[in-house]
Amino acid sequence: MAHLLSASCPLNISSCSKNNSPNSLKKCFSSLPTSLTLQTSVKPFKTLPLNRKNAHKLLSVRATTLQQPTAKTGSGSDQTSGQESRPTRVMVIGGDGYCGWATSLHLSNKNYEVAIVDNLVRRHFDHQLGLDSLTPISSIHDRIRRWRSLTEKDISLYIGDVCDFEFLAEAFTSFKPDAVVHFGEQRSAPYSMIDRSRAVYTQQNNVLGTLNVLFAIKEFSEDCHLVKLGTMGEYGTPNIDIEEGYITITHNGRTDTLPYPKQASSFYHLSKVHDSNNIAFTCKAWGIRATDLNQGVVYGVRTDETAMHEELCNRFDYDGVFGTALNRFCVQAAVGHPLTVYGKGGQTRGYLDIRDTVQCVELAIATPAKRGEMRVFNQFTEQFSVNQLASLVTKAGEKLGIEVKTISVPNPRVEAEEHYYNAKHTKLIELGLQPHLLSDSLLDSLLNVAVQFKDRVDTKQIMPSVSWRKIGVKPKTVSA
Ligand SMILES: NC(=O)c1ccc[n+]([C@@H]2O[C@H](COP(=O)([O-])OP(=O)(O)OC[C@H]3O[C@@H](n4cnc5c(N)ncnc54)[C@H](O)[C@@H]3O)[C@@H](O)[C@H]2O)c1
Repeated sequence: MAHLLSASCPLNISSCSKNNSPNSLKKCFSSLPTSLTLQTSVKPFKTLPLNRKNAHKLLSVRATTLQQPTAKTGSGSDQTSGQESRPTRVMVIGGDGYCGWATSLHLSNKNYEVAIVDNLVRRHFDHQLGLDSLTPISSIHDRIRRWRSLTEKDISLYIGDVCDFEFLAEAFTSFKPDAVVHFGEQRSAPYSMIDRSRAVYTQQNNVLGTLNVLFAIKEFSEDCHLVKLGTMGEYGTPNIDIEEGYITITHNGRTDTLPYPKQASSFYHLSKVHDSNNIAFTCKAWGIRATDLNQGVVYGVRTDETAMHEELCNRFDYDGVFGTALNRFCVQAAVGHPLTVYGKGGQTRGYLDIRDTVQCVELAIATPAKRGEMRVFNQFTEQFSVNQLASLVTKAGEKLGIEVKTISVPNPRVEAEEHYYNAKHTKLIELGLQPHLLSDSLLDSLLNVAVQFKDRVDTKQIMPSVSWRKIGVKPKTVSA
């Protein structure tokens, strides 16, 4: 059963959703892998006792009144029907996460009617592995209440798991989205490579969740546009240019335009490839309209909206499991830890500022795919090798009087360390994306954020702790 929570209502929250303490969250997630200790973990969880079937019941939240959406005009309003304009209704799945929170606020600020759907499992991973965001983050309930008090804009909240179709169906029928932005997946490649149970969890959570979203659209909201977050990692590092989703090939005298070959390099990345295949199939079979955003690595923490109040602050991961390259380097520099370049450091990927993530998603929603169309956009703005990032952070550190050293650590991943990389990324620019390129000033401000919160850094979490080659079969257990 889905439960709508409006931030402005008095709440009666049962069980674990009221606070996100380890003890309350621990009760909520079930078919999640059982206990684990990473070598560097400081607060491991011993057991995760419940099974996922009942998770939504435990996450039951009640609101005493439901807010009716108020008609607003602005970029989030549909003014094409000739009737009174109404805000475009966007369901943001994974709206409590790094990209999802910033996007939810951005869309709400632009007068879209926003509902967040999230099972808060990302916060649970932190408790489970003994990790924490560099920046202190408020509970989702406090975040939404603060947003309303600052802007008078409501964001609806549905706490639950998209793998639970009953929950998702109720969220769909109650909110009636025009667009669904799906961020709600287990998104760490290292997490998916810890052991068998995390690999299985990642693929179940991601593939079945997306499948449920596709069925929910077909059943309840046929015209709804799916904007799905994929990753540039789906393509791997081929020795030819990477196109945006499709490539035209002539073979034995015949020509066709085909999905660009995928060479994913972790169980997480593979889950994204499976998602893309399921989406492409349902676009053809059921006429679903979809945009697959193959996103590069995101850096940064502040957007216009999250900077409005400390309770709106976004998460910032720096650890070896969830932290991404540039964010990690800034924190390492701030605490005087050498920058950890994996292997030769020639690994090249597409990167983008979180302010561009929110812009890209809005652009995709504002110009939806046609019925039956599966669009693919490569969502990044610049390419860097790991060595280039290390050298940029070293220079930025010098300007702030921080001496930055770099070390090469054995590469925990299986990947090419020197390779050709040239990925196209023109479609979002054609739609109007105005990129925030990685400038000195941005690096200064990122480093300053890292310095501001450096007392919160647990330096034991910095080195990589998950190896692709030594993946465990059984979940690692906690010693007594
Ligand atoms: N952060 C990056 O650099 C990056 C790069 C490329 C692609 N992406 C993609 O963007 C999306 C968002 O990434 P992020 O960094 O914000 O991740 P995140 O882990 O911070 O956020 C994901 C959110 O989804 C929620 N969630 C997960 N499974 C769910 C489920 N079954 N039901 C309901 N909610 C669920 C989590 O609780 C979390 O709040 C992911 O799909 C990720 O693969 C991220």
